[in-house]
Amino acid sequence: MKKGFIFDLDGVIVDTAKYHYLAWKKLAQSIDVHFSEAENEQLKGVSRVKSLEKILEWGNKTISESDFMKLMALKNDDYLGYINTMNESEILPDVLKVLKFLIEKEQGIALGSASKNARTILKKVNLFHHFEAIVDGNDVVKGKPNPEVFLSAAKALNINPEHCIVFEDSVAGIQAANTANMISIGIGESSVLQEADFVFADFTHINSQFLNELINK
Ligand code: BG6
Ligand code: MG
Repeated sequence: MKKGFIFDLDGVIVDTAKYHYLAWKKLAQSIDVHFSEAENEQLKGVSRVKSLEKILEWGNKTISESDFMKLMALKNDDYLGYINTMNESEILPDVLKVLKFLIEKEQGIALGSASKNARTILKKVNLFHHFEAIVDGNDVVKGKPNPEVFLSAAKALNINPEHCIVFEDSVAGIQAANTANMISIGIGESSVLQEADFVFADFTHINSQFLNELINK
């Protein structure tokens, strides 16, 4: 049966959290706010606007709307500098192998990401052409944990949500997949991604037998 496999981008296909961290840290420093790696972890799956709101909240800062917009643009310019250096070598282990397996089996393949830079990143790592549908931060009103991004991806694939499987590294994303009535597969630590239906440390632990079971379910 044709199932819809929806991939998150950041933390699932590529490890961009390190670049988000560098860019947010630089921005936080410029406004005298301390920003740690642990705080960066809490921004996984969180939209750009919400991320800056949280950083300001943690630093007890209030700024004007126009300064807020300026800071968001500065952060993104900085982040894009890192993205610009990316190539295929940054695709996380066995992601391509799993993608190719699913394509071979004629499954629906979509991207469901909170990032507004998702299309740029997919092109940089040469994966853009593998996706039948792409839904990203430009296409949704409500961010994860709202299920909008995954429901839109299912719609674009023309596959019912209950026949979709989501790969996600963030808690908010797992919650979004569960609310969308999809099978949620956490990529990361099981202690963090407790709400997922399945958790794997990375794609090297996902074998063809497991994928076949999902397809034939
Ligand atoms: C998510 C990341 O995928 O995209 C978040 O996990 C990020 O850390 C969000 O804030 C928005 O990304 P961008 O590229 O639009 O700033
Ligand atoms: Mg992610």
